[in-house]
Amino acid sequence: MNHQIALLGTGLIGRFYAMSLLNFRGRDQISLVYSRQAQSAQKFAQEFNIPHWTTDLAQAIQHSQVDTVVIGLPNYLHKQAALLAAEAGKAVLCTKPLATNAADALEMLEAVERAGVFHGYLEDLVYTPKTLKALDSVKKGALGKVLWARSRETHGGPHSDWFWMKQYSGGGAIVDMGCHCIEIARNFIGKECRPIEVSCWADTQVHPIETEDHAVGLVRYDSGAIGQFEVSWTFRGGMDLRDEIAGTEGTIWLNHWLRTGLEMFTNVGSAGYVAEKAEGDTGWLFPVGDEIGSLGYVKMFLDMFNSMDAGKTPMETFYDGYIVNAVIDACYKATNTKKWEPVELAAWRGEHYTPTEVALKDYDERHFLIKEERMPNGRLKIILKDKVSGEISQIIQEE
Ligand SMILES: NC(=O)c1ccc[n+]([C@@H]2O[C@H](COP(=O)([O-])OP(=O)(O)OC[C@H]3O[C@@H](n4cnc5c(N)ncnc54)[C@H](O)[C@@H]3O)[C@@H](O)[C@H]2O)c1
Repeated sequence: MNHQIALLGTGLIGRFYAMSLLNFRGRDQISLVYSRQAQSAQKFAQEFNIPHWTTDLAQAIQHSQVDTVVIGLPNYLHKQAALLAAEAGKAVLCTKPLATNAADALEMLEAVERAGVFHGYLEDLVYTPKTLKALDSVKKGALGKVLWARSRETHGGPHSDWFWMKQYSGGGAIVDMGCHCIEIARNFIGKECRPIEVSCWADTQVHPIETEDHAVGLVRYDSGAIGQFEVSWTFRGGMDLRDEIAGTEGTIWLNHWLRTGLEMFTNVGSAGYVAEKAEGDTGWLFPVGDEIGSLGYVKMFLDMFNSMDAGKTPMETFYDGYIVNAVIDACYKATNTKKWEPVELAAWRGEHYTPTEVALKDYDERHFLIKEERMPNGRLKIILKDKVSGEISQIIQEE
């Protein structure tokens, strides 16, 4: 099917979305673009060959030619746009975070489900080619049981005024980037696992703002796994996007942005843009090459539109966005109370997960094996636990 899309927003994400949408399947069309200012809407429409533009949000969504609404607006406008799309019976794809809090996210989820429209949560960073490959390996058991998923997004701060104002954004670095990290960890740990409680440190270290510009949080899941996020608007040196997943049988490290293979030094620069959130255009630079591919936008829209056509659920839905918002709400609570706080989920649809014990390894009839290690002197040390007495001992084998 050829989809006719209304793109809402002509900012940074509107541009990345337009570049991805117009390139990936070759058969969908952005029929209309909405922007607050006529000049931006018109200029954007011209640049991307979009036949219609408007400054009227409701009109954009209700336009008769449009079947799919893509929301790329500041966070506080996602709800209004999604509710209008549901009311108009249009498929709706919303950028991250789904909403500024879990109550709004739940309202959005209920609205699209009630209307029976297709809904997708545009969490691009679980769709990067590297992440998809890593997720596939984890699902096939390459890491054993996942115990720890750590995800980091840090840079020098966002590029528009509204991100810095709580009434428009819903919060600081946690809402802006923690949402990515929480969902990345959740994908690796397993969406069937319920996030139980969180602990979170957040502070405003550098900027004169009401919200946090730096935070580190822990999300404990019912499988026993821990998700860890590290987000900052105070980091210098570009955009650091990294994930680490550790399981009983293996480890994966992912580096998505800096030092990923294209490293360049220039004393004079080549005029202008290098990569998202790069701090300069001279000296050592890390241009990314295929930005929309590396950030997951291409695979993300492919999943969204292919799922829509096949009548399937995409990898990321409004439900996932709601879970992320609920975890974020708990993080803000934990930051204030300085205690572990429960993740309040009015709608939990995961399976009732039964935590599996990590399999104990037999060494012999009497002992479990705890660990083996070859030492610098060539000897093999074997650490054992007596199955009956519980006593821990070691055997040292000569080379
Ligand atoms: N990786 C990602 O998925 C990713 C990356 C960047 C931004 N985002 C998300 O995309 C959304 C937009 O972010 P952005 O970076 O494009 O921001 P931006 O500031 O670059 O662009 C925002 C757009 O919304 C319009 N706008 C601003 N205030 C408005 C208002 N009050 N009423 C109507 N329109 C208004 C602007 O004119 C512009 O078109 C946010 O929700 C953000 O979190 C997602």
